[in-house]
Amino acid sequence: ILCSEGTRSRSSMARCSLFGGDFISTFDESMYSFAGCCSYLLAGDCQKHTFSILGDFQNGKRVGLSVYLGEFFDIHLFVNGTVMQGAHRVSMPYASKGLYLETEAGHHKLSSEAYGFVARIDGSGNFQVLLSHRYFNKTCGLCGNFNIFAEDDFMTQEGTLTSDPYDFANSWALSSGEQRCKRASPPSSTCNTSSGDTQKVGTVAD
Ligand SMILES: *[C@@H]1O[C@H](CO)[C@@H](O)[C@H](O)[C@H]1NC(C)=O
Ligand SMILES: *[C@@H]1O[C@H](CO)[C@@H](O)[C@H](O)[C@H]1NC(C)=O
Ligand SMILES: *[C@@H]1O[C@H](CO)[C@@H](O)[C@H](O)[C@H]1NC(C)=O
Repeated sequence: ILCSEGTRSRSSMARCSLFGGDFISTFDESMYSFAGCCSYLLAGDCQKHTFSILGDFQNGKRVGLSVYLGEFFDIHLFVNGTVMQGAHRVSMPYASKGLYLETEAGHHKLSSEAYGFVARIDGSGNFQVLLSHRYFNKTCGLCGNFNIFAEDDFMTQEGTLTSDPYDFANSWALSSGEQRCKRASPPSSTCNTSSGDTQKVGTVAD
């Protein structure tokens, strides 16, 4: 293994990371760049739809993580440290609906044994999503499909495989309320709806 930092024993959960400026490393360990401008599905239960984990972006930057349990429960962890459940600000520790929120070594951690996930934001605004193996090949979104194969990670919401990380990631955009999502483009023209520059910045492992 090249460049592994310390030794990471095979944990029982798969990990997806959003880190640095705009990097995303999927459960199946493909890496690409994506600078979004609205909310995107990162991962979730894509069969029974019991929960969804969203990454919230503004102008190419990560601003928060949101978790939805069905339609009526949502919790939002912002990079600035604010946590909102619905319209209410919450403080830590906090527990509701089988979710547990705590602060751990400078980051916020929202976890649920019942649902089988952990979502974390660290002090530098990096995100991590850990999923239980029970979602093997049952998740979808920016963190990929978690089926061991990196080469089929860029599956769009429409079910087509693409090699363009922006085509892939934009397909998982979710409009919230009245806010419509614009198509995000690579950083030279981030959040610019013109399709002039289609230069790829991501590297696709295939
Ligand atoms: C934290 O960020 C969120 C989203 O950008 C914003 O709505 C909220 O007002 C911010 N809170 C503070 C205390 O800055
Ligand atoms: C993943 O699920 C699909 C059907 O949903 C199936 O065709 C495919 O073989 C599964 N892949 C793995 C690696 O289990
Ligand atoms: C998008 O970018 C192009 C060139 O970078 C610029 O000419 C255009 O005005 C931009 N459009 C918007 C809506 O910002």
